[in-house]
Amino acid sequence: MKKTALITGANKGIGFEIGRQLGRKGWRVLLGIRNTLNGRDAEEKLQSLGIDAVFVKVDVADPDSIINAAEILAADGTRIDVLINNAAILEDRGTTINTPRGLLEKTLMTNTSGPFNVILAFLPLLGNGSRIINISSGLGVTADMKDYAAAYSISKAALNAVTKQFAAALAGREISVNAVCPGWVKTSMGGAGATRSVEKGAETPVWLATEADSSLTGKFFRDKKEIPF
Ligand SMILES: NC(=O)c1ccc[n+]([C@@H]2O[C@H](COP(=O)([O-])OP(=O)(O)OC[C@H]3O[C@@H](n4cnc5c(N)ncnc54)[C@H](OP(=O)(O)O)[C@@H]3O)[C@@H](O)[C@H]2O)c1
Repeated sequence: MKKTALITGANKGIGFEIGRQLGRKGWRVLLGIRNTLNGRDAEEKLQSLGIDAVFVKVDVADPDSIINAAEILAADGTRIDVLINNAAILEDRGTTINTPRGLLEKTLMTNTSGPFNVILAFLPLLGNGSRIINISSGLGVTADMKDYAAAYSISKAALNAVTKQFAAALAGREISVNAVCPGWVKTSMGGAGATRSVEKGAETPVWLATEADSSLTGKFFRDKKEIPF
């Protein structure tokens, strides 16, 4: 039977590319996107490639929007094999003491509470053996913290904690939960100077969704290899 993935922040960048790569493998891809025009556009682009793509309106910073999306899919009887928490913002690129007021809270809401709430809301749609993949960042590695992008870095360190927490919570249901650093990727977030293509950035998330041993859980990966949190 055709497998289904839900990917948040799938209108562009790494999220869109994960959808394209999974779609090319014959998966049904549910594109979790906050803006309706962007959602329809991404859906059409993937459908024009012959991919079974469906736009699902969801703003991960809005708990009501997440619950609404999960209820709509549940009412359709949708089952999800792989849930990919990809949506994120990076709005601070300065030093820690210059972090704009309120930015930590805003960033945590999208990058940390977002995935936490998405997992809780969509859990009823995930069966035994399904997989959750959180797109994190090397900037969230606590041992490597620098005086840079504090709100984003803290939000990704906390996302890594979300990963460990749900891996422990869902082990009994055989649902794996892992985090991925895609590397420095040429996207709106990564910028034109980044060293990696979106194809390369999507490679490890797609591997975790499709080929990785399903017993792997509570781990952090880059380039298909485990790295320390
Ligand atoms: N690029 C890199 O070098 C790099 C490095 C390490 C980790 N990452 C991680 O990789 C993931 C993808 O990043 P990217 O480089 O592809 O970034 P991107 O091109 O900026 O895409 C981010 C996506 O997240 C969406 N998004 C943001 N806030 C949202 C919300 N509240 N609800 C729903 N969607 C929302 C954006 O939608 P809109 O278009 O509506 O804003 C967009 O689709 C992120 O988790 C990022 O932290 C990226």
